[in-house]
Amino acid sequence: MPAPLGALENIPRHALAHLPTPLEPLARLGAALGGPRLLVKRDDCTGLGLGGNKTRKLEFLMAEALARGADTVISTGGVQSNHVRQTAAAAAKLGLACELVLTRVVPWGGLDYELGGNIQLDRLFGAKVHLHDGDTDRVAAMEALAESLRRDGRTPYLIPTGGSNATGALGYAAAAAELSAQAAAQGEKIAAVVQASSSGGTQAGLTAGFAAIDPAVRVIGIDVDAHPEAVAGDVRRLAGEVWERLALPGAFPEEKVTLQQGYAGEAYGLPTEAMAEAVRRCARLEGLLLDPVYSGKAMAGLIGLIDAGAFSADDTVVFLHTGGMPALFPYREALEG
Ligand SMILES: Cc1ncc(COP(=O)(O)O)c(C=O)c1O
Repeated sequence: MPAPLGALENIPRHALAHLPTPLEPLARLGAALGGPRLLVKRDDCTGLGLGGNKTRKLEFLMAEALARGADTVISTGGVQSNHVRQTAAAAAKLGLACELVLTRVVPWGGLDYELGGNIQLDRLFGAKVHLHDGDTDRVAAMEALAESLRRDGRTPYLIPTGGSNATGALGYAAAAAELSAQAAAQGEKIAAVVQASSSGGTQAGLTAGFAAIDPAVRVIGIDVDAHPEAVAGDVRRLAGEVWERLALPGAFPEEKVTLQQGYAGEAYGLPTEAMAEAVRRCARLEGLLLDPVYSGKAMAGLIGLIDAGAFSADDTVVFLHTGGMPALFPYREALEG
């Protein structure tokens, strides 16, 4: 029986994901690394539109959109955003129109990057794609688009980058409750959860959730943005907002936020050799696909932490697989070897 998580049960949620996602051993990778016992939480298997972490956030965001009478969802991200791909799939499933403000923030090119992977799927789900330069103000561009849709009589609902506001982050507070109960049912005692962190909502929800119901579990975010101070600040702010939305007692304990830097490389979306090595290792030892922008860098971080002796041999560490595999194809040449 999962521990109750404050006011979570009273907050509107629209089921979209295949839950609970599996919690499985990474036996061969664990043996090769010689560190703690490793498990993977398969949030790449949330089911909707090739899955990923955003589906959990969208359960709360889409419920809010429907409650507000929206007929259109607007969201934003990079050209290969996994978040907008899952948003487009959710909108299609719910019969809402979807308009996407995509900015060319990553200096990575080629036809597969511009037309394949996630952006190919956005269009397949029927979303209207608006491509902008990398320095475009996403919030202003979404507002301008919303205004023009309102003039046409439409009712848009705006979702920020990564689905990372307090509403979206509730999805990962719920995930903490799910994982805590699942681990207990499987007889596992988790020491830490390691995950990719970018817009911060995943780590915020997870950290607030575990702080409330299972405070012995450490949540370690791996910065993939190459802006660790900004990411950590976003995580703290969002976790505080989640804490309030859940009507939990006192204030969110900010000291729970741990963000590991050093694995993002030069910039968000640019490959690193450690990422490519981590992607190849998981593929070849576990038949497990990671992605080049998020979960591959997060796994490189986990491997680095194990090598640095951050865990003991009798710890159980969960790698939260947040999805992102459609981007494997646009980054083909970075992963060869
Ligand atoms: C595959 C994948 N993993 C991790 C993240 C990071 O999650 P968050 O933006 O909530 O920090 C994202 C966000 O876009 C993602 O697409």
